[in-house]
Amino acid sequence: MATTQLPKTNKEWILNEYVKGPISDKTFSLKESPVETTVPDGKVLVKVLTLGLEPAIRPSLSDEPSYRAPHPLGTPVWAYGIGVVAATSTPSTHPVGSKVVGLLSWSQYALADATALRPYNEQIGLQHLSALGAPGLAAHIGLFNNVGMKKGEVVLVSGAAGATGSIVVQLAKAAGASKIIGVASKSKCQSVVDNGADVCLDYGAPSFEEDLIKATERKVDVFFDNVGGLVLDAALVCMAKQGRISVCGAISGYQSIGGDKSQVYALKNHTMILRSVLTVKGFIVMPPYTSQEGIGKAVAELGKAVVEGKVKTSIYKFPEEGVEHVPAALHGLLTGQNTGKMTIKIADE
Ligand SMILES: NC(=O)c1ccc[n+]([C@@H]2O[C@H](COP(=O)([O-])OP(=O)(O)OC[C@H]3O[C@@H](n4cnc5c(N)ncnc54)[C@H](OP(=O)(O)O)[C@@H]3O)[C@@H](O)[C@H]2O)c1
Repeated sequence: MATTQLPKTNKEWILNEYVKGPISDKTFSLKESPVETTVPDGKVLVKVLTLGLEPAIRPSLSDEPSYRAPHPLGTPVWAYGIGVVAATSTPSTHPVGSKVVGLLSWSQYALADATALRPYNEQIGLQHLSALGAPGLAAHIGLFNNVGMKKGEVVLVSGAAGATGSIVVQLAKAAGASKIIGVASKSKCQSVVDNGADVCLDYGAPSFEEDLIKATERKVDVFFDNVGGLVLDAALVCMAKQGRISVCGAISGYQSIGGDKSQVYALKNHTMILRSVLTVKGFIVMPPYTSQEGIGKAVAELGKAVVEGKVKTSIYKFPEEGVEHVPAALHGLLTGQNTGKMTIKIADE
């Protein structure tokens, strides 16, 4: 096994209990333990430099059934990130000192599966976690593969200022949408228009439902939904006949997963699914729900678009640095603190 000089201890956040409602001080604990000096076959010890947090972390902290198995209790919480190989069982593919990107954990040193890591490209940088990470894949696969968006269509995007939504707006524009309507909180709407939306509506405005009807003229062909709840409800009455809804996420309801369902927003307009003959289709950008081939194709197209400057995403750098602050960054993500991809720096190279 090849190694570099390692520190004696490693700090990492462990999941203590499945969440029933909002995350609390009891959900995670910061464990300090000796750094692994022997790396098992198929594993790589990675010094974590930056983590990118996904909203999907929150559903996996509950034991409610989902596409992803509940995160195992007593183990470090997952996150995608960028790091440097510190010790390796696979020196030919992951040599010590090489930079990698992939599935890591809320740790200073993460023990990762070699198969879950790929080489880091300096030209792409933090976009590995955004345009080329789950947000970019979700935008591309959700817009084209899942609901087949075509030139000339009217596209509505919720969570439009987020990491995923901001890429959807740019891809829809590049694909020739006739009109793009974004939905975001008021302070983030300018960024949505700057990315190419014709208009952006504040879902917190008292007149939101009427504003949406006016802006869409009830002619939405494709609704890319990141949010669910009241925005989805309002959108259901704005769809064209036989419109398609690409269900990417439902972030407005994530804090209640595993907890009290009486507070969850109940849809009032669900009969519109039948009355407007809608297709409502969920998707997940990981196998087996999306093939490796489909992911590879999307990564190749997105990589080209990033290098050519055709897709830009804003990267939000959490103001506090260090592994100690990762739970606060997750809280920030779930309460809309970020505009663009939520990242947190863990260490210098
Ligand atoms: N299906 C898949 O494979 C896949 C892959 C990646 C991501 N996703 C999903 O895509 C969604 C977006 O993820 P992301 O990484 O782009 O996250 P993000 O960067 O945090 O963006 C999410 C956006 O949602 C908005 N939001 C939060 N709470 C809201 C609420 N209650 N009502 C309305 N808007 C709210 C936030 O801004 P404002 O509220 O301030 O506007 C934020 O800009 C999530 O639901 C995530 O689970 C799915």
